[in-house]
Amino acid sequence: MNSSPNDRIMWARRFTLGDWNTRSSVRSSEHCYLLPSDLNEQLETRYWFPPAFLFYLNHPAIKAKNKAIAQRLSANHLVHFLDYTTLLEHRIVNRSVEIIAHDELGIAIPTRMKTAALQLYTDEGYHALFSSNLAEQIADLYGMTDRPVMPLRITRLNELIDRTSTKHKALVWFLVGFVSETIIAKELLEACRDVLVSTVQEMLRDHLADEARHSRYFCEVFHYFWQNFSGVQRAEAAKLLIEILLIFFETDECWISGSLRSVGLSEKSVAQIIACMSDEHARLLRIRSSASATFQALKEAGFFDLPTNRQLFSQAGLIDE
Ligand SMILES: [Fe+2]
Ligand SMILES: [Fe+2]
Repeated sequence: MNSSPNDRIMWARRFTLGDWNTRSSVRSSEHCYLLPSDLNEQLETRYWFPPAFLFYLNHPAIKAKNKAIAQRLSANHLVHFLDYTTLLEHRIVNRSVEIIAHDELGIAIPTRMKTAALQLYTDEGYHALFSSNLAEQIADLYGMTDRPVMPLRITRLNELIDRTSTKHKALVWFLVGFVSETIIAKELLEACRDVLVSTVQEMLRDHLADEARHSRYFCEVFHYFWQNFSGVQRAEAAKLLIEILLIFFETDECWISGSLRSVGLSEKSVAQIIACMSDEHARLLRIRSSASATFQALKEAGFFDLPTNRQLFSQAGLIDE
């Protein structure tokens, strides 16, 4: 299916990252992302990572320990999150952006879409840089030597990409970027709500401002490609999207267990916490809630107009009948 000249004119008015030259973090942020000189005072009342994301801090075995243990667990979590972000931006999202910028799906794109893709690529490079810099500072502070650990999510995404046929390789790369870029803004928004160490707060806010633009862009790009996909590409995309969504919300049990053990938690407590996090129904609820922007983009593109897609997603427990 090819777009008509009229469609091309309509689409050419979209696909922008707004005033990227004056508003993107890499062009305009004045933050240097160095840990504050009053860090110890800040840690009396602020957190490394939002406690709302770390429900296990409420486990009685952790509550019974002193506050330094909870702060160490949240520092572990932040460093792991930053190491993950560095890999995700460089090795996953930017590969997906290359697919758009260099027409690897074989669908001609408007010039503005390509320009915005190149801007977005630059943003992600900067996000990887400030994430890595901050992770190094915190790892030095705590003497963390057991990193970086390959996050389960990156391993799973690479496995999915590897086992996808050559014919659909560009498609799976694009879809992984689409899902990632439409869920990250909400994730960062939730993370910014807690009172965090000032450097972390500044970094997350800068990242969020960029990702809000990226999310809108990827929604429009998905819509454009969806209109131009062949029937075979559409059928493959529907199956891949379910797999990708499940991967993004799988709990990294191995890493969390290691973090909990590192602060001296008993095997019994670790097992209790992991059991709470491994509930499949809870994972589906997390996807429905946290990937709401992804679902909205699918809806607006007409993805759910196809009964087979509604059926696939409903069978997977991702939408109601
Ligand atoms: Fe990013
Ligand atoms: Fe992004």
